[in-house]
Amino acid sequence: MFIKYLIYYYSMIVTPWEVSGEIDYDKLIKKFGTERIDKKLLDRIENIAGEVHPFLKRGLFFSHRDLKWIIDEYDKGNKFFLYTGRGPSGDTHLGHLISWILTKWFQDKFGAKLYFQLTDDEKFLVKDNLTLEQTNKFAHENALDVIALGFDPKKTTIIIDTEYSKVLYKEALKVAKKITFSTVKAIFGFTNESNIGKIFFASFQIVPCFLESIKQKKNVPCLIPCGIDQDPYFRLARDVLPKLGYYKPAEIHSKFISGLGGGGKMSASIPSSTIFTTDSPNEVKTKINKTLTGGRETVELQRKLGGETEKCVIYEYLYYLFENDDKLIEERKKNCKSGKILCGECKNYLTEKINKFLKDHQEKRLKAKLIVKEFMPDL
Ligand code: TYM
Repeated sequence: MFIKYLIYYYSMIVTPWEVSGEIDYDKLIKKFGTERIDKKLLDRIENIAGEVHPFLKRGLFFSHRDLKWIIDEYDKGNKFFLYTGRGPSGDTHLGHLISWILTKWFQDKFGAKLYFQLTDDEKFLVKDNLTLEQTNKFAHENALDVIALGFDPKKTTIIIDTEYSKVLYKEALKVAKKITFSTVKAIFGFTNESNIGKIFFASFQIVPCFLESIKQKKNVPCLIPCGIDQDPYFRLARDVLPKLGYYKPAEIHSKFISGLGGGGKMSASIPSSTIFTTDSPNEVKTKINKTLTGGRETVELQRKLGGETEKCVIYEYLYYLFENDDKLIEERKKNCKSGKILCGECKNYLTEKINKFLKDHQEKRLKAKLIVKEFMPDL
């Protein structure tokens, strides 16, 4: 049972707290028991939204639970709300933005409300080196990145767990009463040495799945965009919620973008693997210059054999995040594989793209400080 959720499969590790090794997403779908997002589903989304977001089109979001049901309900006039979040263990990085950007797209296209949870409690409990004051401070910093993406304040509620506990705690108790220790042990791998806060915490991450149902005093479908590492929490939520009279939450899962050195996801815990939203243009330039590419050992070999885009982190960032134009990305791939362009050129191109994005984001982040209160409800 434990193995069912925590996958130590060949060299691949995927848990809510650790993602490393070569990730085989086909195997993950099989092992987690999720469904692949297929063309038929994308066509239905396009019919409603008028377009398909590049993250969906290029397969960055690849897996789901009950997304078809969410669309069925929407077609019947039963609108869903969105729920996503962040465990504030440090500054925000590009990997975190992936789920948030798609969430924003769903909010715009489907008029959906959003609950965004910042689990300062979770990161205090699971990270030995962080105090509660630090995780709470990061939560407030991370909230600025969420707001900078342009969410509608009238439709968005940002929850910091330790500050919203008057509402969350009552509901978390109801969730906790439906979960046994042996279940969380099986799902999260807890042992007798695990602190008891971690054991209770899962119930806090489950509560926002039904906050809108409480508010509207009727069952409201919930869609959770997240990296697939968060699935164990929501697998558990899907067991518990029907027992409390709520719908099972639906999920849409993203792949992980790699750390700058390849081999595992971009992670706030490994700053050298990571581009933070607060990085300066020079920091980005230096980091991208050191990034793993699919280039050959020498210029001569590269001209002769061409580069290997499938191994290249620079190409990955362009393909998934920074080059939406299908023709341009295809051309870049062709030119790399034929040895026409060298890694330096792609690195400069990506650096420019990232810095342009970050300049805009950082300006919006500054302005976000003025409107933060609109997103955080008074208790
Ligand atoms: P956290 O802070 O680990 O991650 C926040 C979100 O970012 C995703 N993510 C990534 N996605 C793509 N590439 C990466 N390199 C990458 N790194 C992180 C994560 O999968 C996640 O979706 N327990 C949660 C906080 C949380 C939450 C939620 C997340 C509370 N409620 C609801 C998603 C949905 C956590 O620690 O996330």
